[in-house]
Amino acid sequence: MRAASPLASPRVPRVACLAAAALALAGFGGSARTAGDADPLGEKTGGETTVYATGRNAFSFPLANLSDEERTRFAVGNSFFRRNWVEAPASTTARDGLGPHFIARSCGGCHVQDGRGAPPAFRKGVAPGGHEPPVALLIRLSVPGVGEHGDVRPEPVYGGQFNNAAVQGVQPEGRVTLRRHPVAGRFADGTRYTLWAPTYGFADLAYGPMAKDVLLSPRIAPQLAGVGLLEAIPEAEILRNAADQAAQPGPVKGQANRVWDAFAGEMRVGRFGWKANVATLAHQTAGAFLGDIGITSSKNPGEACTAAQRDCLGATHGGPAGGGPEIDDKTLGDVVFYQSALAPAARRDVGAAQVLRGQRLFTQAACTSCHRPSYITGEGPFPALTSPRVAGQRIWPYTDLLLHDMGPALADGRPDFAANGRQWKTPPLWGVGLIRDVNGHQRLLHDGRADGVLEAVLWHGGEAESARRQVLSMSRADRQALVKFVESL
Ligand code: HEC
Ligand code: HEC
Repeated sequence: MRAASPLASPRVPRVACLAAAALALAGFGGSARTAGDADPLGEKTGGETTVYATGRNAFSFPLANLSDEERTRFAVGNSFFRRNWVEAPASTTARDGLGPHFIARSCGGCHVQDGRGAPPAFRKGVAPGGHEPPVALLIRLSVPGVGEHGDVRPEPVYGGQFNNAAVQGVQPEGRVTLRRHPVAGRFADGTRYTLWAPTYGFADLAYGPMAKDVLLSPRIAPQLAGVGLLEAIPEAEILRNAADQAAQPGPVKGQANRVWDAFAGEMRVGRFGWKANVATLAHQTAGAFLGDIGITSSKNPGEACTAAQRDCLGATHGGPAGGGPEIDDKTLGDVVFYQSALAPAARRDVGAAQVLRGQRLFTQAACTSCHRPSYITGEGPFPALTSPRVAGQRIWPYTDLLLHDMGPALADGRPDFAANGRQWKTPPLWGVGLIRDVNGHQRLLHDGRADGVLEAVLWHGGEAESARRQVLSMSRADRQALVKFVESL
């Protein structure tokens, strides 16, 4: 059921949707399902918004129930998400203003096909350092202490994020270096495995040394399908997850992050980013335009140059003549709308015996205590347009959106608002099985260190230590079933 290009034939998903739903119903009859809040159809990942898509475009379709007018806006936002920004001055002021410092030239440069980035590949003979330069891996920087709005304090010379590219006449900040060492282990049945633990550093620093007490947080670009529905999960539900976990015995004690939101103008419960360090898609988008591409907006009017970066401060500004934001509010809104309307894809193989077995193991190993299966959505970020589409849907993201101590092996040692240096947000598991189709790899966890679902689980520790131990004691067939279930989401 490979769907066609999302924009060339916008109606395909809807048609495919009906056909696939009929097929799924026909093929599903009679299989036993866990009770409780299980979805009787087993595959309506995003309720009425679900698209039936696999293959390279699986993350790029609009919500199945969008109106034609909304589809047009989706297409406009998509073009500004995907197309490269250029250096100023250029013949087009609509897309100039790249840099001075940047990491990529477009959102799609990291979120390739709206999907997941990969850490740099290690290849013999690739100079320097034995690995390719990182693209979709960004490194957040800070020094100890609390900054504005309860956030971290940026590194004084290099700022809040490392930029390894720059426009002509401006120095890139330097290079990210990556080393890795093997961590060996074995399952209870004697099977051996090897994980690779990364270490990050910098070389060719253009503006001198970094602060001695600099803190680094490496992060890979996550896939974006379904983010509008995540924003529509009521804040009360996230807080309820924390209260429920606090009331249960055992080590799982998730905590909500509280973060500054420039659009709401207040502190909110965080839900985006690997530490739930951002509350809304609007804030994330304006932040990414500035931090990753060097595009200013009305909320972020100044380029991200520090006082020590004279060449950066003196570079030519893009956008309308005489300065002003390099992206206007309307276009920024279109890009936010675009992401809000990216549809989660339906589950695959829901009725397969191995998947159903994996589903039982997922519950038995208490993966569900953090990867909470489902929610009913509230109002979305665009009440006027998408509320009739996004609100009131039962969705299946498999996350509590809370922070958990995941143990020392995953810890970055860097706080982010209320998150401490050992905590990470439970990422949603919907779409994980499609990353390989879309991006040709299956790099998981915050910095992409895990290659596939099983490695991701083997890295779990801290509050998830007992879940990891249960997987270590599973038979090979059970491990495979567990992975198949997660890949069916
Ligand atoms: C340099 C690579 C890079 C570029 C360019 C980039 N992103 Fe990201 N994106 C990331 C990383 C890394 C994260 C995780 C950030 C974190 O944990 O703080 C992320 C997170 C996000 C998220 C949150 C997703 C979630 O579920 O947590 C959204 C939404 C997003 N980006 C949108 C955008 C948009 C819109 C653009 C263009 C304006 C963009 N990104 C450009 C790397 C990138
Ligand atoms: C204590 C909470 C908790 C439990 C229990 C838990 N997880 Fe996770 N899971 C997380 C967090 C937090 C992360 C992100 C860690 C990181 O990025 O470093 C994660 C990441 C993952 C990922 C990678 C997702 C991605 O997008 O990269 C997979 C797959 C996963 N978990 C599966 C499982 C399975 C299967 C189980 C049960 C055996 C399980 N988890 C139990 C909290 C939990």
